[in-house]
Amino acid sequence: DNLYLGIDLGGTKMLAALIDEQGQIVAKNQEPTLAERGAEDVIRRLISISETLIAGGILRTGFFTIRGIGVAVAGVLEPEKGMISLATNLRWHNVQLGPILEKRFHCPVHIVNDANAAAFGEWMAGEQAGIQDMIYITVSTGIGAGIISGGRLIEGTTHSAAEFGHITIDRDGPLCACGNRGCVEMYTAGHSIARRAQASIQSGEPEAAAIAVLNGVEPEQVTAEHVAAAAKAGNQLAIRLLADAGEALGCGIVTFAHLLNPAAIVIGGSVSQCGALLFDPMLEAVRRYGIPKVVESITFAASSLGGTAGITGAALWAREQLALKQTL
Ligand code: BGC
Ligand code: NA
Ligand code: ZN
Repeated sequence: DNLYLGIDLGGTKMLAALIDEQGQIVAKNQEPTLAERGAEDVIRRLISISETLIAGGILRTGFFTIRGIGVAVAGVLEPEKGMISLATNLRWHNVQLGPILEKRFHCPVHIVNDANAAAFGEWMAGEQAGIQDMIYITVSTGIGAGIISGGRLIEGTTHSAAEFGHITIDRDGPLCACGNRGCVEMYTAGHSIARRAQASIQSGEPEAAAIAVLNGVEPEQVTAEHVAAAAKAGNQLAIRLLADAGEALGCGIVTFAHLLNPAAIVIGGSVSQCGALLFDPMLEAVRRYGIPKVVESITFAASSLGGTAGITGAALWAREQLALKQTL
């Protein structure tokens, strides 16, 4: 049997999965990324969860061939070299992951931006499969996107198309790790929601302190998840933080829609679990700032593959690259 290994290397967790030709997951494995331990340690554990997965797969289904590996990475890449040029949420700079995996697993490795992979996965195997013009947005530790336009994934000249998290919505806004100011990611990403909540706690707002207390954590441990839990419990500051995040996301989406006129926008990523607390303000911003003719035709949908969009897309991307090579 032929299988693909799909890997999703994110700022918070990493996933590996065995995936068949149709994009169905045969088995998967995951682990926290713990980026602070450094690239070498992360790569060692990534290899280890992949090997465990393959060994378990062989026990269950008998021998199979891994035809290719697709690695979805949260950052700007140079796929020809298997190079991760800049991954702000992993704190990686010029890490050449591809050749390491090729040597270890003896098959071709294709690295692809995580959100581009997820877009490809949704488009190949999700509910919006086959739609000609769609955008996938992930709201997770960082914010990313992938564009399907005219029935293909738009990669751009250096495979860096759709760095949606780093478009400016306020040029006087806070400085982002990418070098730009007021990036969408500075308002809506998981790390930003957490940072803003922590700052409010530090400035002594009683509603802010309640976010930590309610979740039973120290102020500096507050995450976006804690903010979401507090918002659901009625904490007004938490509700405002999510509304603000949603509005920033909506402003970014208006730019996206005006550029590309998509039929559908699919939203995934862990922070998207916040649901209406994030999406109502987002939709309201889209309606308020968008050109009606352009934004009214967009179908908004939650990711149908959820947390597995990235691994699915990465594996199918590896399959696609292999098929392309064979037709050359
Ligand atoms: C990175 C993107 C990535 C996104 C989601 C951003 O910070 O620049 O490349 O797609 O996070 O992980
Ligand atoms: Na992208
Ligand atoms: Zn940025």
